[in-house]
Order: sequence, then structure tokens, then C-alpha cells
Amino acid sequence: MKIAVYPGSFDPPTNGHTEIIYRSSKIFDKLIIAVTRNFSKKSTFSVEERKEMLEKCTDSLRNVEVDSFSGLLVDYAQKKKASVIIRGLRAVSDFEYEVQLALMNRRMSKKIETIFFIPDENYTFLSSSLVKEIAELGGKINELVPAVIANKVMSKYRK
Ligand code: PNS
Repeated sequence: MKIAVYPGSFDPPTNGHTEIIYRSSKIFDKLIIAVTRNFSKKSTFSVEERKEMLEKCTDSLRNVEVDSFSGLLVDYAQKKKASVIIRGLRAVSDFEYEVQLALMNRRMSKKIETIFFIPDENYTFLSSSLVKEIAELGGKINELVPAVIANKVMSKYRK
């Protein structure tokens, strides 16, 4: 059984994330979406809120599980018997950081491969931070996040 982990802060999940989830869930027997803390970002939504949003977005996908972890990603992946880490690569600007993560993870565990997904070109500009900025400034986020979570995201910014 081929198990993959898709880790991230998902703060909040975007259409870019869900598109990668749909595509990778077709390739692996089981896909675990793993919410965790990115040490260089301050999060807006709690881990529970992010998990709940991801569960709503992936409700129809039978081989997808949503989880959270703290600690090292490679340790978590090994505990879950996953042999692949999925990451999205939107643009050249992502490249340096993503290669650094992938190489560091490989150094810590040779058994786990990182596989990159190039998102649909409609989403290469999209990021959770931009969604939050737009929502905070009163812009529309309907086309940026899955419909089932748009209200939840907006509710953080409604006075
Ligand atoms: O969605 P993000 O914020 O780009 O995801 C980054 C994330 C969460 C995948 C990265 O920060 C991570 O792997 N954190 C887990 C802790 C860890 O293993 N750190 C060492 C990475 S080499």
C-alpha cells in the first residue's frame, strides 16, 4: 500500500491545496493531509479549525485522511508508514525553500521521497497569506478557497 503525506500549515486551505489533494489522491492508495506548525509563520486559524476545514473540503475522497502532528515531518511520516511527502511547487520563488526542505528531509530519512506537484496554472498566484490579506481588506475570496469553507474564513474578519 502506497501512503503519502501532504504536510502544510493550510492556514487556511486554498483551491491550490485542494487541487493538489484531488490529484495526488488518485495516485496513492492513501493520502494523509497533515496539519502542522510552520516555525516561521504565525497562524491565524487553530489546528482544530484547519483540520475541520480540510475535512469539509475532502469529504468525498474516501482514501484521504486529515490529521495533525507536532515534531519532525520525517518522524511523523515514518510513524504513518508513508514513503512519500507531497509538496506543491507554484513558481520559481518556491523552489529554493522547497529544495531546502526536501534535501533536509532526505538527509534525515533516506526512505522517504518528496514528490512535487505543479498546481493548475489558475492557482500559481494563490497563497493562504494572500487569501487572508484580501479577506481582511474586504475583498472577495469566493474563487480562491473551496465554497464549503469560504464563510468560515470570512468569519475571522467580520466585525
Ligand atoms: O504550508 P507550509 O507552511 O509551507 O508548510 C511547511 C511545513 C509545515 C511542511 C514545514 O514547516 C515542516 O515540515 N514542518 C514540520 C517540522 C519539520 O519537520 N521541520 C524540519 C523541516 S526540514
